Amino acid sequence: MQDLNRLAAELRAGTINRFDFLRGAAALGLGAAAAASALDPFNALAVMAASANPNQTPAHFMKKAKYKIGFSQSELNNPWRVAESDSMAAEAKKRSARYTYIATVANSDTHKQVSDVGDMIASKCDLIVLTPREKDPLRAATAKALAAGVPVIEIDRTSAGKAATDYVTAIESNFIIQGQKVATWMAANTKGQINFVELRGTTGASPAIDRHNGFYSVISKQSRFHQLDSQDGNFTLANAKPIMTQWLTKYGSKIDMVYCHNDDMAIGAYQAMKQAGFTKKVYIGTIDGQKKAIQMVADGLFSVCVQSDPHFGPVTFDAIDMYFAGKPIPAHITVQDHTYTKANAASLVMTGF
Ligand code: AHR
Repeated sequence: MQDLNRLAAELRAGTINRFDFLRGAAALGLGAAAAASALDPFNALAVMAASANPNQTPAHFMKKAKYKIGFSQSELNNPWRVAESDSMAAEAKKRSARYTYIATVANSDTHKQVSDVGDMIASKCDLIVLTPREKDPLRAATAKALAAGVPVIEIDRTSAGKAATDYVTAIESNFIIQGQKVATWMAANTKGQINFVELRGTTGASPAIDRHNGFYSVISKQSRFHQLDSQDGNFTLANAKPIMTQWLTKYGSKIDMVYCHNDDMAIGAYQAMKQAGFTKKVYIGTIDGQKKAIQMVADGLFSVCVQSDPHFGPVTFDAIDMYFAGKPIPAHITVQDHTYTKANAASLVMTGF
């Protein structure tokens, strides 16, 4: 209680801000509401703390010449994630007069990503940008940041929390629509009975869940499409290629179509077919927009590729600027993506990464 009174005195004197007060209360094991009720004598302060949602905008934060931004990346196991990290680092460099920037990579270890966020809170980041590897487990990280008064912006993927309540905003593509676009193309451009296999992204990741559901919401209404198999290829060529090799042995020329949740897995599937000497024309639908994949659409090797733009740096730092300017930010900021087909791919290769 003595420590809490000291924090309250510092808050009133203006030597610490509201976030620091809530952080201090959290360190004492108190949530915002508990801190508020302990501060009953100072009613204004109590009301402020009780109603405080540190992620709400416009926020009451301490004005600083420079803010410290932490970026928690889940992994760098495919070109998409490298492009995303490069985009964030390049933008941070452009705005280095206003922001110091630190980045961590969780190396495909969800527990490490939760603890990376904990480290960023402890090192007094003013705002954390998170690309949650898995939806449910990363809820613990945003909850910890919220309790400590550190705002979180989720980019590319989302955790199980709610935008504008548990974190400031979600900046992402619409993964459901991406899956629907691939399925719609297949429904419109194929004939007869189609047997297909699905290479899914990392189990538990929001794009894997949504791209699967989006695709099936369209394809399941077409009785001529039949799923032969579906496996987790972890969004990587290295995981997807041996799965496709096994399917070629098991199903051979029964396979008419391959649906891949990202380009790296589509390239792996294509390589597996080449290496197996599989010559049948198979429809391949993919998502991401690597330059290499767009070129393969132009060359007729892939049927359709839906973009998932990884260049999050500019839009994310624009949102950060707005946050620290006290301006309201929409709960969801949706990235607009191209659909590459034989008709437009050659002229759009440069939009890839
Ligand atoms: O969250 C976006 C997805 O994650 C991309 O499609 C994929 O390549 C990445 O690993």
